[in-house]
Amino acid sequence: MSLPANPPATHPAAPAAVHLATPAAAHPAAPAAIPLDLSGRTALVTGAASGIGRACALRLVAAGAQVRAVDRDADGLAALHAAATRTGAESGAGAEEAAGAGPLAGELQPHPLDLTDLDAAERAADGVDVLVNNAGLQLVRPLHEFPPEDFETMLTVMLTAPFRLIRGALPHMYAQGWGRVVNISSVHGLRASAYKSAYVAAKHGLEGLSKVTALEGAPHGVTSNCVNPGYVRTPLVERQVADQAATHGIPADRVVTDVLLTRPAIKRMVEPAEVAEAVAYLCAPQSSMITGTSLSLDGGWTAS
Ligand SMILES: NC(=O)c1ccc[n+]([C@@H]2O[C@H](COP(=O)([O-])OP(=O)(O)OC[C@H]3O[C@@H](n4cnc5c(N)ncnc54)[C@H](O)[C@@H]3O)[C@@H](O)[C@H]2O)c1
Repeated sequence: MSLPANPPATHPAAPAAVHLATPAAAHPAAPAAIPLDLSGRTALVTGAASGIGRACALRLVAAGAQVRAVDRDADGLAALHAAATRTGAESGAGAEEAAGAGPLAGELQPHPLDLTDLDAAERAADGVDVLVNNAGLQLVRPLHEFPPEDFETMLTVMLTAPFRLIRGALPHMYAQGWGRVVNISSVHGLRASAYKSAYVAAKHGLEGLSKVTALEGAPHGVTSNCVNPGYVRTPLVERQVADQAATHGIPADRVVTDVLLTRPAIKRMVEPAEVAEAVAYLCAPQSSMITGTSLSLDGGWTAS
């Protein structure tokens, strides 16, 4: 059965998150970690308490970085901090995120912050060598019903805050002649879907911001790139699945197969650790000529 990918939500109440149980065979083995030494470097990851940001923070700690973990979810940051103080082999839920990267060698500093406080966001980025703009949120509604205040908040968190964080990070990066900006965009930075106006607008804007950062940063040794995943197995997507299951009146696993995975050629979801490894690659010496690009991890979605 083929369903529209993003139907209008017919129930305004926030849906309960579901656990995306898919067959074990659909889970790939954790990717081998590329060699990456960020000892002596400071990294900032936004949205670090959950999903992709959590995986990125643990990956950069494993590479030896001092990681400022920014999120508005203080409890989630505390859990992340506990995971980061254990070794990759012992870290339970965190093990797969840091898999292959060996013992966690760096250090994680929880930094509770709501990114709608833009001045605080800019200050938080002062002195960082690596900036991962990851925090994001989703709301699926038809344009004519999209609440303007939600549109504003999503643009603030996913576009204006990255601008302010980049603005705060660049002076130190320029002064030392090295810096890495990685923006977690989306397939929706390159393609539109109906009912996702704020998300698509913010991600398309982030693509532009990333390219300008690349052009201005190049003479100073600063690269800027986007990473563009398709659907990743995270709480953000679990909430969407619950929403669409209720809308269509079908089980959550059928939302995954009949709605989310219709467009990618590879019929599985992306794992957070795969996104974190792409971020690691963009921080590695091997990628020093890669800037202003968008690295798709979408299973072929944008190839069609
Ligand atoms: N999950 C996917 O399928 C997918 C696909 C493509 C791109 N992305 C992007 O990856 C990023 C992370 O998504 P995720 O799936 O890991 O989501 P998630 O919901 O698991 O995590 C997002 C984190 O951002 C934090 N956050 C949200 N608003 C904030 C604010 N105002 N201040 C501080 N922190 C805030 C949340 O507390 C949460 O910890 C987002 O930018 C998202 O657009 C996700």
